[in-house]
Amino acid sequence: MAAELVCFREKCRARFAITAVIYNCPQCGGLLEAVYDAPEQSGLMLKRLWRERRASNAPLDQSGVWRYREFIPFLDSYSCVVTLREGNTPLLEARQAAQYAGLDRIAFKHQGYNPTGSFKDNGMTCGTAQALRLGRTRVACVSTGNTSASMAAYASAAGLQPVIFIPRGNISYGKLAQALEYGARTLQVEANFDQILALVRQSAERLGMYLLNSINPFRIEGQKTIMAEMLDQRDWNPPEWVVLPGGNLGNTSAFGKALRELKEWGLIARLPRLAVIQAEGSAPFYELARRLRAKKPGAEPVEPRLDPVEHPETLATAIKIGDPVSWPKALSEVENSGGVVERVTEQEIADAKAVIGRCGIGCEPASATTLAGLKKLRSAGTLAPDADVVAVLTGHVLKDPDYIYRYHTGALEGPGGRMIHSTFGNQPAVVANDVDEIARALAT
Ligand code: F0G
Repeated sequence: MAAELVCFREKCRARFAITAVIYNCPQCGGLLEAVYDAPEQSGLMLKRLWRERRASNAPLDQSGVWRYREFIPFLDSYSCVVTLREGNTPLLEARQAAQYAGLDRIAFKHQGYNPTGSFKDNGMTCGTAQALRLGRTRVACVSTGNTSASMAAYASAAGLQPVIFIPRGNISYGKLAQALEYGARTLQVEANFDQILALVRQSAERLGMYLLNSINPFRIEGQKTIMAEMLDQRDWNPPEWVVLPGGNLGNTSAFGKALRELKEWGLIARLPRLAVIQAEGSAPFYELARRLRAKKPGAEPVEPRLDPVEHPETLATAIKIGDPVSWPKALSEVENSGGVVERVTEQEIADAKAVIGRCGIGCEPASATTLAGLKKLRSAGTLAPDADVVAVLTGHVLKDPDYIYRYHTGALEGPGGRMIHSTFGNQPAVVANDVDEIARALAT
């Protein structure tokens, strides 16, 4: 099947070889996407094939990404694939979380069950496969933590040299520890994510690095399979809503593309609506969507522009991003799905996170924007109480244990020094090694 890189901008749509090492359109600077001919198999045949592969012991079939390889056919050979059995993440019903949001039901698609604990693994197995195919030896990314942890693992497993750039002091220790353990050359830069990414995008070639940030279209292809697997788990019955956090907006782009293609290819009959949730202090995409919504009917159409947030703030460091690179794709996907963009406060994120924990599920702070956003959208009447909702938890609960301990002990300080109230706090108690004292402690 022919695969090409195509400029995402409607006005350009320039085409390039699938093996071109480019991250933006050389003609207009637009984002790039992988485009394929429609598959030879019918939707029904693909669904059957993908279901059968769940019983296979072949590494490629055991991967929750490569099991769906007809959906991401950018390679001409699978010999360069390195899999850590990514994907294969559960859909978990969460009654207490649903109650908290005022909904009858919520299902969490928990990407924290991935090998390195985040959804980045779905994309990284594809990005590293493309790097190997191109004969590259050094890969790099700028990251708020999870991309770097994931890239470090996949690059090392593939025998590539991982180089990561992280904003100094602004990623959680869990993520930094992973990158070190997986053997990445780790550069802590004295700048924020957006500033470092701008620099590294310009200098990747000069430093001999193949870039594996989400502007890399092959990362996006891998992340598409999160939607394929979710629908497979629901016997191809699409939910009304898919809710996810928005940071650099790669995942929003991936989910939108996935759902669009699955509909075009006849695997689903209708598109779920995307709801993207940002943290209040890092919400340029929310602001853009709000501005577009407020535009007067009949007003001159102008090309939308995102106003970056110069100093993004949030304790959910994974999404502390003020100038998201994938916004044009994300905007198009949200509009195409009839979706919405919402923002939530630090307090709302922290409390929603604790509620997800109380379900026995848990997640990292950025992931909890989903439940906080659902509660808000439900209160505003955007969602009906019986809405069929899948919310994507993007990262594992242990990614940021420091945040958890501080929340539960009343020591979590938000941006600007405002204390977060530990609404659902759970203080550990100190007791003597004495049964009477223990009994007294348990009685309170
Ligand atoms: N949730 C988590 C846990 C993340 O790590 C990220 C992004 C997002 C949500 C947002 O996803 O960027 O596709 O909109 N983390 C990146 C990183 C930026 O470097 O790890 P997005």
